[in-house]
Amino acid sequence: MKLKDRVALITGGSSGIGKAAAIAMAKEGAKVAITARRMERLEEAAEEIRELGGDVLSLAGDVAEPEHVQKLVEETVAKWGRLDIVVPNAGINGVFAPIEEITPDEWDQTHHINVRGTFLTVKYSIPHLRASGGGSIIVISSVNGNRIFSNFGFTAYSASKAAQVAFTKMAAMELAQWKIRVNVVCPGATKTSIGENTFARNIDKIRIPREYPVGMIPLEQRAAESEEVASAILYLASDDASYVTGTEIYVDGALSLFQG
Ligand SMILES: NC(=O)c1ccc[n+]([C@@H]2O[C@H](COP(=O)([O-])OP(=O)(O)OC[C@H]3O[C@@H](n4cnc5c(N)ncnc54)[C@H](OP(=O)(O)O)[C@@H]3O)[C@@H](O)[C@H]2O)c1
Repeated sequence: MKLKDRVALITGGSSGIGKAAAIAMAKEGAKVAITARRMERLEEAAEEIRELGGDVLSLAGDVAEPEHVQKLVEETVAKWGRLDIVVPNAGINGVFAPIEEITPDEWDQTHHINVRGTFLTVKYSIPHLRASGGGSIIVISSVNGNRIFSNFGFTAYSASKAAQVAFTKMAAMELAQWKIRVNVVCPGATKTSIGENTFARNIDKIRIPREYPVGMIPLEQRAAESEEVASAILYLASDDASYVTGTEIYVDGALSLFQG
């Protein structure tokens, strides 16, 4: 029970990495608050956590909206009296397309969810983490924008994922004085539902042809399970990582070293 009596807030907790992190933390004794836009799936995830014996709060809404994030944080603290762990995880791939074809609105949507959502989640959590005497924030970024720059059409996504890493490092410096640790997990290919939020358009117009040998992920030639990414999140959330802050953990089977 590494997280006994701790309170965790995880955005994008209805699916993939966020859901796996919420389950992993609940199994370690944390009370977990989750959010996502689609209510039905969010409720299904909450029910799954309850069936495992976990204590869960769910509130549907958009992480890019300050009012929603503020309400989520306030309801979490009203229910359990504290906040210890925050995981800004909600994210989309958005539109993958040539730069000259991405519309300003498409660019903004990716950045609103991935960057503004991260900022808002951290911003409204800080007073409560301070009141708890410290805490752990684990931002979920990506290999893209940080170690991999060879996926054509990914400019909006990669720029948003690089921004999250810069934000993490600045926040780690700023929040250390209140014993709040801030780290970032950069997953590689992971089996989740993110394909539903991915819209590729005309990438063939810009792609430079290249060929990777079969089994291009060095470790075991496979994508990660969400639970394998959740293990890194759990480590950073726990006291096992008590002196770790401002750092990236890549969970990618060395994919980014091979392709980067
Ligand atoms: N899967 C990968 O290969 C991979 C690799 C590297 C990094 N990542 C990162 O991992 C994070 C989680 O992605 P995933 O792969 O687990 O994807 P996923 O299965 O699609 O889960 C994304 C979660 O975020 C929620 N979400 C999306 N937009 C939101 C918004 N505006 N407000 C609130 N919730 C929102 C989704 O629910 P709703 O759609 O209902 O809102 C869902 O719960 C993302 O930041 C992604 O960039 C994933």
